[in-house]
Amino acid sequence: MFTKKTIKDVNIRDKKVLIRVDFNVPLNDHGVIIDDYRIKMALPTIEYARSQGAKVILISHMGRPKNAQDSTCSLKPCATRLSELMHIDIGFANDCIGPDIQRAVDELKSGDILLLENLRFHKEEEANDLNFSKKLAALGDVFVQDGFGVVHRAHASTEGITHFILSVAGLLLEKEVTSITNAMLNPDRPLAIVIGGAKVSDKIELLDVFIEKADYVAVVGAMANTFLMIEDVPIGLSKADKDALDSARLLYQKAEERMRREQFTFYLPHDVVVSKAMDNSLPTRIVDIASHAYSDITAYPKIPDVSSYTIQSDEYILDIGPMTASSIAGAMKLSGTAVWNGTAGVTEVKGLNGAADPYSHGTKLIIEGLVGEHPRDDNKPFTIVGGGDTVGFVESVPWLRERLNHVSTGGGASLELMAGKRLPGLEALQNKDVKMGASSIAKSGSI
Ligand code: 3PG
Repeated sequence: MFTKKTIKDVNIRDKKVLIRVDFNVPLNDHGVIIDDYRIKMALPTIEYARSQGAKVILISHMGRPKNAQDSTCSLKPCATRLSELMHIDIGFANDCIGPDIQRAVDELKSGDILLLENLRFHKEEEANDLNFSKKLAALGDVFVQDGFGVVHRAHASTEGITHFILSVAGLLLEKEVTSITNAMLNPDRPLAIVIGGAKVSDKIELLDVFIEKADYVAVVGAMANTFLMIEDVPIGLSKADKDALDSARLLYQKAEERMRREQFTFYLPHDVVVSKAMDNSLPTRIVDIASHAYSDITAYPKIPDVSSYTIQSDEYILDIGPMTASSIAGAMKLSGTAVWNGTAGVTEVKGLNGAADPYSHGTKLIIEGLVGEHPRDDNKPFTIVGGGDTVGFVESVPWLRERLNHVSTGGGASLELMAGKRLPGLEALQNKDVKMGASSIAKSGSI
């Protein structure tokens, strides 16, 4: 059960409602938004606030700017996109604190929306500076935390601010936390997870929890390379997280022990797609990493050439192979709850002249296991998807999103929630069972 008060528990009519969103969306080199999923998912709370006659002030971060002059991290494109999505004018302010901003906020009328410039243009945001938090809080009558993607950070706009203003959850935050927590606490079994992405170190805790709790764990993508290395499989020029070799070894041992003890399967790629170039300019081949083990034993039909089961020193692993993808897809099909975080290959490389994307086949096969063969397939698992590259991939396949049950807007936040870690930006919000007394009313007095 969600234990925090939400925007629906407070009277916001004519109030200045400060909503923390996560509009940290990917932009291309020309500042154009590549994926607006996070903006779309913030709409229910923004629309609800407007429908209640609130004056809406949106605050967010964008990227990790080095200084306030870093125009590549401006939130301006998000104001434009939000305006297109809502078909109304959205105001944009060039800063997030100061007398000019206070004036712009004071001039808002019920139903108006003003997006403030990147919070991280002030270093006090990430330092969780209380003075800065106080200035932010002074802009509103009530604070609504709806930036699920950032609640794992203890920053001024997530934790600090809650000391100065009545602070409740937005509808996206409530939905994210409820869906992910329910799936983790009480999953339909078997529970499966596919974990990909670049760095093992980012996902050690998640892997650790799933190796303990889940029935199937599949490690794919560049992450798998680190595990292949500890098995002494040569990975050519492929990326591996060399600093995480010891952690990976411990995780692998833990998985092996559990497989010996009980019904649990830990999948690593046993065949991979490789090439001498990563940009689709040279042919690919499949390396069947495991085949020689069988052939050596049976010598049938004959012992294969070493190159058929060895990645060469000038090759990159670009995708999982068809055998690996099929076995993981099979496990997904059998599962009751499936978590997918990280693609299996270099899915950002696109096919030329309308051809299929060259290194996305493994990911697509896994998706078939996740969503079933048929849109109305009732047998499919309850699916939870998270992680920036994964959500980007989901958005690039037109029919996919509505066939998944929960596509999270959070990267790190969803991983930390699944791993059972505390989220400072969530914990700081007011609990449902707290009476709206004088001390909780902050400045507004009548909420
Ligand atoms: C994300 O993209 O995961 C969130 O917006 C948080 O961003 P951060 O990792 O830069 O804090």
